[in-house]
Amino acid sequence: MTKSDTPNRMWGGRFTSAPSKLMQALNASIHFDRRLYRQDVAGSKAHAAMLASCGIISDADAEAITTGLDRVAAEIEAGTVSFSADLEDIHMNIESRLHELIGEPAGRLHTGRSRNDQVATDLRLWTREHCDRALFGLARVISALVDQATKGAGMMMPGFTHLQSAQPVTWGHHMLAYAEMMRRDMSRFDDARSRMNECPLGAAALAGTSFPINREMTAEALGFDRPMANSLDAVSDRDFVLDYLSAAAICATHLSRLAEEIVLWVSAQFAFAKLGDSFSTGSSIMPQKRNPDAAELVRARCGRIVGALTTVLMVMKGLPLAYSKDMQEDKEQVFDAVDTLELSLSAMAGMIADLQPRELTMREAAMFGHANATDLADFLVQSTDMPFRTAHRIVGRLVRMACDRDASLGDLPITAYTDCLAECHDPNAIAGAARKLMKDYGQAITNKVSLGGTAPSRVSEQVHYWKEWKSCGPFSHYFRS
Ligand code: ARG
Repeated sequence: MTKSDTPNRMWGGRFTSAPSKLMQALNASIHFDRRLYRQDVAGSKAHAAMLASCGIISDADAEAITTGLDRVAAEIEAGTVSFSADLEDIHMNIESRLHELIGEPAGRLHTGRSRNDQVATDLRLWTREHCDRALFGLARVISALVDQATKGAGMMMPGFTHLQSAQPVTWGHHMLAYAEMMRRDMSRFDDARSRMNECPLGAAALAGTSFPINREMTAEALGFDRPMANSLDAVSDRDFVLDYLSAAAICATHLSRLAEEIVLWVSAQFAFAKLGDSFSTGSSIMPQKRNPDAAELVRARCGRIVGALTTVLMVMKGLPLAYSKDMQEDKEQVFDAVDTLELSLSAMAGMIADLQPRELTMREAAMFGHANATDLADFLVQSTDMPFRTAHRIVGRLVRMACDRDASLGDLPITAYTDCLAECHDPNAIAGAARKLMKDYGQAITNKVSLGGTAPSRVSEQVHYWKEWKSCGPFSHYFRS
């Protein structure tokens, strides 16, 4: 393999030649970790200010470093810095450019610090920011769900178990089921955020440092709650990445389930809802097509996020303390997962807002498959005191009769009811009321008034509650954007 002649300018003192090109291809991370430049500059500025305030470097050097770092950041933003793979990563590229700009004081910046605590700090800052973005994204999805629930609190739709007709529910209830999942997602990101909000800076390579540094000062300057307590842990922990990715994987799974429902609902066979043009595509051959591509992609991209979680778990398992280069492999995973999740959240918020429920089709579909049979069993128990098992058997017989005649329970003749209810005290009286109940499909939703149930009155209560929660709950801040 070819080698360039000069050893690395940042760490090449004990080397006589440069690494091979192959080594560089494997080792360099600048093509992806350049995304950390803002965090890297912020961490370095905090470190330099602390070094000066502790008398470790002069105020003049700290001043030169700070101004120089601001210039480097501006150059990176303007796209005028040419990053070099010889310098491996964002940390050494920035320090090297700083040296070109300000000379000798740049060489004092790395006092009492290592790339190990530097990268851990940068990535914590970056991941913390993206926990916030996930929280804002989830708030937008929840808002769209609550808006749909407001419109559809009393809108009947089929409820499924095993994707078989089960019992009618309401559109609003269905929307708020996802809002519940996403509120738990919010609490997972919030929890991950608060756990990761400790500062590794000052742990140096692994053991701490002999310089009289002030770790509280850098932690505070970077908005962390406190410095991490153990220097070995500070440089070798990546469970903050795993916390983010776990929350992201669960959230993406929720999005994927909702995306799957959208795919089903907008099909010609279900036709429960219509998705506007913004989130649909056509076919190049079949003129009638409206494909829910956005929902399909959100459904599929869950795999990338779960894959990122699995990859980082595999990178971390079996690593001895403290830092190992394996840990550089965390970044592309978390970057990709973040991009994927943030895009999926935005697309989902847009799709939900865009979704137009088709009330009549859903109401008709809710009546298929004898979905009010359980109501009849409940009614028999309530009006005759018969055990539920007996009622279940009687209604089962009626359902069989209805199936044989290809009729609904409400269409069966009264004699079918009196026959099946022969064992009751007053079959005629009960048969009439039972048949009437089966004709009145609306009762299948209005009577589900138990806490958390699908009755429109309950769903309206919940909508009210959700609106309160959005404006006054613990995450209200994320709803004010
Ligand atoms: N690019 C490295 C990473 O992402 C930075 C830390 C390098 N530390 C070292 N001891 N080589 O992990």
